Amino acid sequence: MAQTLIAPSVLAADFANLQRDVTMINQSMADWFHIDIMDGVFVPNISFGMPVLKAIGTHAQKPLDVHLMIVDPDRYIQTFAELGAAILTVHYEACTHLHRSLQAIKQQGMKAGVALNPHTPVSLLKDVLGDLDLVCLMSVNPGFGGQKFIEHTYQKVRELNSLRQEQNANFLIEIDGGVTSDNALALKEAGADVLVAGSFVFNAEDPLATVAHLKKITQ
Ligand code: DX5
Ligand code: ZN
Repeated sequence: MAQTLIAPSVLAADFANLQRDVTMINQSMADWFHIDIMDGVFVPNISFGMPVLKAIGTHAQKPLDVHLMIVDPDRYIQTFAELGAAILTVHYEACTHLHRSLQAIKQQGMKAGVALNPHTPVSLLKDVLGDLDLVCLMSVNPGFGGQKFIEHTYQKVRELNSLRQEQNANFLIEIDGGVTSDNALALKEAGADVLVAGSFVFNAEDPLATVAHLKKITQ
């Protein structure tokens, strides 16, 4: 099996020491930066926007995995490409014309992802699986870091993994929310490829060792 990718979520970083925390991720065994953009409409919280992403991009030396928790994301696809996003993930629940949005993301040279809220069945994606580079399964209700992992996620990962095999598709399965060393291996075994971890990494006494540990237990 391929190695599991670890994507620390910058949402849990210390924004007063952002450069320090970005440098820490550069130096860690992490694979990607996970960037949570929230608009206060699609989710009940506002995180940060373009100027902060630009600042992160100036220092980040790993791919930017940008997770848009915003309504009508089509308005900003080009902007996020210009800001250096490698992967751009939109929410299924925020896209009326999902297929069109995915093509627009790819036309801008980015990998295209779709995120599903905990209540959204994976079966709803079956007609676009071939167009996707990544499916992000939310394992908490989006909007905040530090929430408890929803156990039903395992079933969704297994179901999505089966659909992927049936269709011979090759998108990555990403899990976002409440990931810790307690569930990382089980998620990998269920079929996950990318694990996002925010508070578990940044609130740890030794974030570098915590990333290394997550990496080690999922290989
Ligand atoms: C939640 C965000 C997550 C969040 C994860 O809306 O999409 O990426 O930062 O944080 P933890 O790992 O603390 O649950
Ligand atoms: Zn996220």
